[in-house]
Amino acid sequence: MKPQMRNLNLFLFLLLSLHFISVLSWKREEFRNCNQTPFCKRARARKPGSCSLLARHVIISDGDVTAKLLPKNHETSEDHHEINPLLLTLSLYQDGVLRLKIDEDPSLGPPKKRFEVPDVIVPEFSNNKLWLQRISTETIDGDTGPSSIVHLADGYEAVLRHDPFEVYVREKGSGNRVISLNSHGLFDFEPLTAKGEGEEWEESFRENTDTRPYGPQSISFDVSFYAADFVYGIPEHATSLALKPTRGPGVEYSEPYRLFNLDVFEYIHDSPFGIYGSIPFMISHGKSRGTSGFFWLNAAEMQIDVMGAGWDADSGISLPSEKTRIDTFWMSEAGIVDAFFFVGPGPKDVVRQYMSVTGMPAMPQLFATAYHQCRWNYRDEEDVEDVDSKFDEHNIPYDVLWLDIEHTDGKRYFTWDRMLFPHPEEMQRKLAAKGRHMVTIVDPHIKRDDSYNVHKEATKKGYYVKDASGNDFDGWCWSGSSSYPDMLNPEIRSWWADRFSFEHYVGSTPSLYIWNDMNEPSVFNGPELTMPRDALHYGDVEHRELHNAYGYYFHMATANGLVKRGEGKDRPFVLSRALFAGSQRHGAVWTGDNSAEWDHLRVSVPMVLTLGLTGLPFSGADVGGFFGNPEPELLVRWYQLGAYYPFFRAHAHHDTKRREPWLFGERNTELIRDAIHVRYTLIPYFYTLFREANTSGVPVVRPLWMEFPSEEATFSNDEAFMVGNSILVQGIYTEDIFSAS
Ligand SMILES: *[C@@H]1O[C@H](CO)[C@@H](O)[C@H](O)[C@H]1NC(C)=O
Repeated sequence: MKPQMRNLNLFLFLLLSLHFISVLSWKREEFRNCNQTPFCKRARARKPGSCSLLARHVIISDGDVTAKLLPKNHETSEDHHEINPLLLTLSLYQDGVLRLKIDEDPSLGPPKKRFEVPDVIVPEFSNNKLWLQRISTETIDGDTGPSSIVHLADGYEAVLRHDPFEVYVREKGSGNRVISLNSHGLFDFEPLTAKGEGEEWEESFRENTDTRPYGPQSISFDVSFYAADFVYGIPEHATSLALKPTRGPGVEYSEPYRLFNLDVFEYIHDSPFGIYGSIPFMISHGKSRGTSGFFWLNAAEMQIDVMGAGWDADSGISLPSEKTRIDTFWMSEAGIVDAFFFVGPGPKDVVRQYMSVTGMPAMPQLFATAYHQCRWNYRDEEDVEDVDSKFDEHNIPYDVLWLDIEHTDGKRYFTWDRMLFPHPEEMQRKLAAKGRHMVTIVDPHIKRDDSYNVHKEATKKGYYVKDASGNDFDGWCWSGSSSYPDMLNPEIRSWWADRFSFEHYVGSTPSLYIWNDMNEPSVFNGPELTMPRDALHYGDVEHRELHNAYGYYFHMATANGLVKRGEGKDRPFVLSRALFAGSQRHGAVWTGDNSAEWDHLRVSVPMVLTLGLTGLPFSGADVGGFFGNPEPELLVRWYQLGAYYPFFRAHAHHDTKRREPWLFGERNTELIRDAIHVRYTLIPYFYTLFREANTSGVPVVRPLWMEFPSEEATFSNDEAFMVGNSILVQGIYTEDIFSAS
């Protein structure tokens, strides 16, 4: 190492240490709340019934129902030329899936096309489309005007009420509603605007300014679930399985559930605050009818309120089946309405219907379903060899040894610190000889260093995300000054995938797999520790429009890299921290940087169950807790529970004490060994469940109510869960407790 590099490293180290000192616990003020987020504040202030849009020109076109949404006063207004109608499309798909799209009319010249998230809906989905031939019009009891009605699936109809506009699914015959949109008249759609003379839309948060060149462009609306006792889903939050209300008389939370992928240091264990991933998919379940679902394909920041009973007491709007209805309110900063309604009626039906849109989960390799040993960091080759042999000595099985960021040459991914890891291939071969694998970390922040070939090439080819003024975006992360490949662009994803070939990734072998961290993306000096919203991607898409999917595209490109490397014969393994709808097709995810606390052990269960419900069967929490030093009892309990996570990995922060399973005395080693042995005994069962998930979408670990949908007592239980349909697991989440009551 050259002396000046050593100094640079020392400087970086000091800087990062400072960073850590300042983030020893969750810093609420680093992050925006709803009141500091103008679109959220505006949307939340709206009153029920304030939407005055009518559906007009309702016709069948190309097998879909289409309509124009116009404001009520449009026909009478003097200056009605000013108001551009919105276009509404209702499409029907097999298996009880209704799709609703609402966007500006491109022929009326909005300044730019609004972003529609590509590559999430699987191509096969379009084969499921039902071509509509007939539409009937009637005035439904209680309405003053007509509705258009179409047959959706066995026993279900989709209804578009014209005035005021409302979309819902109801049961045929009984007419009972299942799920509806805009029943409370909260729908709002802010059209894009070209900046006029003197207009100023800049927004500031802390020291960052967002230029917002197209002005406010948010969308919000209410969605109601009928015959629903609880709603679930919309990860990722560290909170209960059954979602608590966020608004209404006497509710505990005041913030909506936020979906905004963020690198949150030491997240707290019971909060609607958004963390690393976002899946805008909500599921309702109730004893009287069953399950239904709603998915909004939109990758901008989203905020979702679950309304408590009585929130609309004086709105003057009355809806059927008052008692068992759950109202929710969805707000997004940008994009379009591209929403899917799923009729169920069972929990497994809803998950399958959702996956007909976003794809079935990938089938993992057998080794990936076993136990993984990770730490920031296994220092060098000697450390790796030592840990590996101690597992054998202590008769504890493990399958994968992980290397965190310190294995690289100065956080230049795809390189090795040749002082610490002089023989990476030999090291991997030694592990492979025992049937073991290695995983190295590859993050999206590329060190801005002209001698680093990945950076050189990305710069030359113009592959980086641009800042608002069109230069390569430059942010601070582990590697210091860094830029981020624009993963929205398929050409760049393909280039990225090629980085994983044995030729490009020098020192990699066929037994090496990959871990994607920091892909929210994390930017230490960016607003809320991420990329500015006015940064620019492929096709002039603003970062605000795709933020929640950036990590998804990164995960996709990395997984495709391993597929290419193996010439399609080798199933990839890539773990990702950031996630979005569809991540199930690309690999595993984990719940990020948790803490060595009993509360984090407890919340890992609803977090993993929620990910499974929303399509991601392959997830787990860091066993032992990432931050802090677990007491031996907590560590043992974590192994005993973690042995049933679909993804079973121990991991620990750089500053924690070593905690390999044999370091806590004979008795604790024995308990941990037993827990890991149980997992290994069950691996054929787990592997079979992964195949079941791969073909039917049903998650590997399941909330009790998924297996016992009419047992009311299970609906809000998130301490116990099912592994498949045959094993019930009850965790122990408290010190000094030896059985669950
Ligand atoms: C199952 O997993 C494989 C391998 O990841 C994937 O190619 C396939 O699309 C998945 N789904 C089904 C239904 O087989």
